Amino acid sequence: MLISDLLRLLADETRLRVLHLLEHEPLTVAELQEVLELGQSSISGHLAKLKGAGLIHDLPEGSARRYRLREDHDGMLRTAWQSMRDLSLDEPRFAADRKRLEDIQATRGSSWVDRVAGSLHREYAPGRTWESLCHGLLHFASFGRCVDIGAGDGAMVELIAPRATTLLCVDPSPAMVAAGRSRVQALHPGAVEYLQAPGEKLPLADHCADSVLFLQSLQYIADPAAALAEAARILAPGGRLLVLTLVSHGFPEADAFGHRHHGFAAADLKRWSRTLDQPHAYTLPPEGRSPRFQTLIFTATRAGRAAARGRP
Ligand SMILES: C[S@@+](CC[C@H](N)C(=O)[O-])C[C@H]1O[C@@H](n2cnc3c(N)ncnc32)[C@H](O)[C@@H]1O
Repeated sequence: MLISDLLRLLADETRLRVLHLLEHEPLTVAELQEVLELGQSSISGHLAKLKGAGLIHDLPEGSARRYRLREDHDGMLRTAWQSMRDLSLDEPRFAADRKRLEDIQATRGSSWVDRVAGSLHREYAPGRTWESLCHGLLHFASFGRCVDIGAGDGAMVELIAPRATTLLCVDPSPAMVAAGRSRVQALHPGAVEYLQAPGEKLPLADHCADSVLFLQSLQYIADPAAALAEAARILAPGGRLLVLTLVSHGFPEADAFGHRHHGFAAADLKRWSRTLDQPHAYTLPPEGRSPRFQTLIFTATRAGRAAARGRP
């Protein structure tokens, strides 16, 4: 979209009123009509333009449709709306619309909880982030003797170490290993060790790990098939493999991050881990930020019963 078209779109007072209300919460045409006191065709026309530009989207709700601001767009569209919103937030007419909406809802006795029933998974709710969910669920996780391949400078150590019997961070980069060692010395002296080695050739004994992780590192590894074979070799019976990597893509932006591979197909990961059981792969929705990389999550297990053992 050209900037001139975008500015024309946002320069309309009714569309700005609609956007300010939708920023507050998702609404149907009927609800917007009641607050704005405008005809249905006028509101529908404005909604169609905002939807066409990609600023809002809608979902069916009974016989109506509920409109909401999109959160998955970025770049010019997001910046333009956020700037416009910040500039106009204190204008009395937008505050008056919000107040009117609240009054109408209070009269009807409808609460936020009632309104989002059935669409909560798409809604913003304060504190309900993927990050908070991940931190919370991790408390139930147990990594046993964990080997993190391509651990980098240990940014994930704080999450994993408290839930692991031992944590061995493996990385071939001397700079990452040095940075990681100084980080873990401060945080978890003794419980976390660093090993400078490539994932394709691990100086570790067979069956010495209860969990092996590749957290966005497989796309850096020259020979990912060899690295997954090594991971399978060091997994103890009952041990689990977790790979977070990228879905195959054609984005040249990955090169700036030093990726050797433009993502992977789930079938490749399954083939390279064929000595393990219960392979399972699934993809997350594209990231909000351009170019919208997608994460591929792959897990597999070594057959047998897990047993508590010492350090790898
Ligand atoms: C994006 S970093 C991921 C760091 C960490 N897992 C995290 O999530 O914060 C990718 C890491 O893969 C490492 N790497 C590169 N080649 C590797 C190889 N052959 N075996 C294992 N790791 C490798 C890099 O040195 C880098 O530290």
